Amino acid sequence: MEIHIQTPLSLILLLPFFFFTFLPLSSQACHQVDRDALLDFKHSINPLNLLQSWIPSTDCCSTWDGIACDPSSGRVVQVSLPVLSDKVCSMNVTLSPSLGNLSFLQFLDLSDLNRLSGPIPPELGKLSRLSYLYLSNNCLSGEIPVSLGRLTRLKILHLSWNLLSGSVPSALFHSMPLLYDLDLSYNNLFGVIPSSIGKLISLINLELQSNRFYFC
Ligand SMILES: *[C@@H]1O[C@H](CO)[C@@H](O)[C@H](O)[C@H]1NC(C)=O
Ligand SMILES: *[C@@H]1O[C@H](CO)[C@@H](O)[C@H](O)[C@H]1NC(C)=O
Repeated sequence: MEIHIQTPLSLILLLPFFFFTFLPLSSQACHQVDRDALLDFKHSINPLNLLQSWIPSTDCCSTWDGIACDPSSGRVVQVSLPVLSDKVCSMNVTLSPSLGNLSFLQFLDLSDLNRLSGPIPPELGKLSRLSYLYLSNNCLSGEIPVSLGRLTRLKILHLSWNLLSGSVPSALFHSMPLLYDLDLSYNNLFGVIPSSIGKLISLINLELQSNRFYFC
């Protein structure tokens, strides 16, 4: 009789132990660095009141909208946000520099939010695995950070329909051998298109219209 009583009791006592020991191994629980970066980003676009599913106590890999993780590393590889119609530029929705902490990110799509203002954070240049960067159709201003030139795995770069100004940094194109689609159209970019654009050996699609470029 004693055995019958003891067995369930010991199981109950051991249960928390099993959970704490094995849960982190069993699934792609959100990596803390990724979660902190994403929550900081969520905070920076807080006025939009999007991303209600991004709840700190839950697993970003399995329950957060727009997030995908690599099953083997458990790290965030994709961030894509919903499309918002109608352009409403307001200075209180900005891009968090913490996005640069998502060091396993391959795909970042924040295009057609129609709300993002302020500069493109230079920290995005830390995303060394990034292949796809879509920031079109927003209100981003300032210059294209030269640090984006460190994104050597980039295949697609879309920055069109923003308020970007200044000249295109020559170093931007020095080491992007995989870039095949570059869209900088509909901004306020100025000056000479750097000759380093000739180093984009994979380029198939190039959109530069509606800027203030000149050729000489
Ligand atoms: C991002 O990384 C920087 C540098 O390591 C750190 O100072 C910052 O706190 C991180 N941001 C977040 C939201 O964790
Ligand atoms: C953000 O800006 C918009 C328009 O400029 C305003 O309506 C809204 O109240 C602001 N939100 C916050 C949280 O400041």
